[in-house]
Order: sequence, then structure tokens, then C-alpha cells
Amino acid sequence: MNSRLIDKLATFYDLEPEIEDFGEAVVKGLSSEHKTLPCKFFYDLRGSQLFDEICELEEYYVTRTEVNLLKENAAEISQCLGDNCHLVEFGSGSSTKVRILLDALQQAAGYTAIDISRDHLIASCAELAESYPGLAVSAVCTDYSEALEIPALGSSSGRPVAFFPGSSLGNFDAKDAIVFLGRVAAFLSQSGGGLLIGVDLKKDEAILNAAYDDAKGVTAAFNLNLLVRANAEIDAGFDLSGFRHKAFYNADIGRVEMHLVSTKKQSVTIDGKTIDFEPEERIHTENSYKYSLNQFAGICQEAGFISSKLWCDADQLFSVHYLETA
Ligand code: AVI
Repeated sequence: MNSRLIDKLATFYDLEPEIEDFGEAVVKGLSSEHKTLPCKFFYDLRGSQLFDEICELEEYYVTRTEVNLLKENAAEISQCLGDNCHLVEFGSGSSTKVRILLDALQQAAGYTAIDISRDHLIASCAELAESYPGLAVSAVCTDYSEALEIPALGSSSGRPVAFFPGSSLGNFDAKDAIVFLGRVAAFLSQSGGGLLIGVDLKKDEAILNAAYDDAKGVTAAFNLNLLVRANAEIDAGFDLSGFRHKAFYNADIGRVEMHLVSTKKQSVTIDGKTIDFEPEERIHTENSYKYSLNQFAGICQEAGFISSKLWCDADQLFSVHYLETA
């Protein structure tokens, strides 16, 4: 199936990213003093479906607000990007939001999607290539958080513009966010490119708490799916009714935290290692940092970017920035 789809692409580069072993990561995370599970493991097939559902939720203002900002300001944004831009999307997923940009641009030089999830990347890019027949669509399978190697741009004449929507930067710790943006800046500075990035803003705590603990329980299912996955893939034997979802805004640190809370004393055995849980003991599963515009400006400066243009909704929920290298 893949080779038929790959034929629709200008290029497909498989950099064969090292996939961290799920079982090892679970045992390591649950053996530490403060139990953790890495949020990157949310996105198996079921987790990705649940995340798509989250993006549709009334309480999860993030996706809706960013999409509206991109649509409402598409003309101005495309002026910043320029007709001859080559869009490079980090963590491209279904390549949905980039369509708003491609529709607004008169003529993009190309599009390169970068994602770790090989099959989904190829399928999404093939679909995009069909929708935009004149566009050179390339796909790079790699872990963009580890290294920035983008071979597909080698033959492109366009000015690279990186696209990093969805406030995915919020899932990096502040230090890692600067390291990642610094690498993007170094890549772009070779060719005078820019970065279009979506950043979630600090706001009323009640809005944030609801966004990560919705009434329908979709985010709870997304969080608990980590344990479902551990049961299916590494035979962990978690009692799913023995854990509950907890999400809250930690104002001191400026981030929403997600945890799984053990509702009783219990233990699981994975790979011969027994892990004990006390009642109310937590597994920390995700951080989602929220920035003030000033804080984000500081991060940009440290990473080597200057802000060229900023778009915010009237309620100051979300921001989209066009940055250029300093
Ligand atoms: C992918 N990422 C930006 C989402 C966020 O808002 O931090 C993941 C998410 N977790 C719970 N809801 C959404």
C-alpha cells in the first residue's frame, strides 16, 4: 500500500527514527520516585482518534481558535510567507491546518511534512498531493524533537518557512522549547526563512481546567488509554477502574498537568518487575505549558528569533506568531 502512495510524493525520506521501546519506557517511568509516563506514547491508533475528538470539543478552545486565526488572517499570513515559500511542517499529523495556508498562497514552492508516524505521514501526504496537483509534496519520517535533518529541501528553490501549529511547543519543558526553537532558527538562518507557530496563552484557570477535563470524558479516555495500551502491548494487567484522570492548571509553573491517580493500593507486574501504587498516588503523564506574550517573546529571543507579526483572537486565548531569525 505504501509504495503506491509514495509514488504520489515528490520525495519520501525515511530517516528511520529510533522508536523508544514502550515497555522499557513504562517500567523506567513507573520505577522512578515520582511516577511518570512519557506523553509521546499517547498517540497509538486509538489515542490519535481520541486526540482528534479532543480537538472537536467545545471546552478545547485550542484547535478552533487557531484554525479561526489562520483563516481570518490568511491573506496577511500569506503575505508574510511569500509566494515562493517552501512550507516545512513539524509533527504534520494529518496535514490539515496547512491546507488553510496552501489555499491562501498563490503559489507555494513546495511542502515538506515531518512526522515520526510513518504510515500516517505517507497517507496524509499522498492525500494532500492529490488535492494540490501542482505542489511538490515531500515527506520525512523522523523524530523532529531529536534532530533537524531535512533532506527534502535540498532541491527546492523556495524560501523555507517552518510551520509548527497546535501549541505543540507547550508539551516541551521551557528549556527544551528553547533548544528546539534554537535548532529551527539555525536551520532557517541558512536561507533567511521564517517560522509560523501557534502558541497557547495563559488565561483564566477555569477555562484551562475544563479544556483538559471535559464533560464528556474524552480527555480522561485519552489519558487512561496509556494504561489500555500498556495492557494490550506489554501485558501490564492494569485494573482500569483503579485509576482516574486528573488535570489541573499549576499556576506556579504555568502549565496544565495531566496525571493518572491510583484510587486504591494495588500493584502491577511488568516484565517480572512489580510496581506498587498507594491510594491517591499519581502517574504524571503530560505537561502543557501556557505562555504570556512577554514570556514567549523572551523564549524567542533566547532561541535566536525576532517576532515579525502576531495574531491573537479577541479573547486572547491563543496566538499565532510569524518569526524571523535574528
Ligand atoms: C498535542 N498537544 C499540544 C495537546 C495539548 O493541548 O497539550 C495534547 C493534549 N492533551 C490533552 N489534551 C490535548
